[in-house]
Amino acid sequence: MSLRIAVAGAGGTVGRRLTAILAADHNVLALTRSPVRAARLGVRGRLVPADFGVRAGLNRALDGADALFVATFDPTDPRHDEHLASAARAAGVAHVVKLSALAVTDPDAQDLVTRWQRECEQLWQASGLTWTFLRARAFMSNCLSWSGAVRSGAPVATLYGDAPNACVDPADLAETAARALTGPGHAGRAYALTGPAAVSAREQVAHLARLLDRPVRHEELTERQALDRWCARHPRALAHALLESARRQAAGAKASVAPDVKLVTGRTPATFDAWARRHLDAFR
Ligand SMILES: NC(=O)c1ccc[n+]([C@@H]2O[C@H](COP(=O)([O-])OP(=O)(O)OC[C@H]3O[C@@H](n4cnc5c(N)ncnc54)[C@H](OP(=O)(O)O)[C@@H]3O)[C@@H](O)[C@H]2O)c1
Repeated sequence: MSLRIAVAGAGGTVGRRLTAILAADHNVLALTRSPVRAARLGVRGRLVPADFGVRAGLNRALDGADALFVATFDPTDPRHDEHLASAARAAGVAHVVKLSALAVTDPDAQDLVTRWQRECEQLWQASGLTWTFLRARAFMSNCLSWSGAVRSGAPVATLYGDAPNACVDPADLAETAARALTGPGHAGRAYALTGPAAVSAREQVAHLARLLDRPVRHEELTERQALDRWCARHPRALAHALLESARRQAAGAKASVAPDVKLVTGRTPATFDAWARRHLDAFR
């Protein structure tokens, strides 16, 4: 059966891939602040202007939607999920699939981003809507932030470069989201979504060097250096959340692998090597 599915965060890493999967069989409402930019990025479906910070426009954006995918992005603004939940209720949306973070299950994770994701999950649980949570480990695509350094021959500098992380391919997250939005049996479920193995930043850099067939150096940062770099790019509270998260990774909190990508999609999740082969042009 063809459904009408709204994708909130359609211009994002997972949302963009999700619209491509869904558009083959379903009527997709792709919510974005910038339809022009979204079209350039190849977002599929009907591009619907929407800003999660502006409640008034969301009713019309979700009009007639059977299901809703939610990826929100601003841990300093909890209103975004509130606005989407109230608009989804008003529009009669039957099922919400929310992208969350696996750290919410770790009682030691008390950083700003994880607390925000926990609060968002609680908000959806209390919303009266049927929900599914996709709790993701770090996206493999985060290392696209190294592409400039790799292209220019500079070292890739990270904090705790030997700390393992069972990072996940965003394409697997999009496939899992598509199954949860369109198939039965996902109501009230929270899935732990990881890749097939834990990999450290130093190992990721070595993978890239091997695939590029040239040396790529890894450089270890101190906590002070990493914090200064994050503070230059993000609000201070977010920079500190990243530091707390890196410390948990160094303590081994992100190394375990979960079976849920395969459980939901029937496919083994992609390795970092497979992800890197598909994105190698970004590093050339
Ligand atoms: N990255 C990770 O490793 C990771 C791991 C676990 C969980 N997560 C979670 O996954 C989600 C995606 O994170 P990300 O950092 O990877 O984001 P991202 O995919 O880079 O997406 C950013 C998108 O947010 C949209 N956006 C921002 N503010 C908006 C607003 N006010 N209204 C409407 N759209 C808005 C923008 O789309 P438009 O410009 O098209 O509007 C932009 O494309 C977050 O909830 C994050 O906590 C991420």
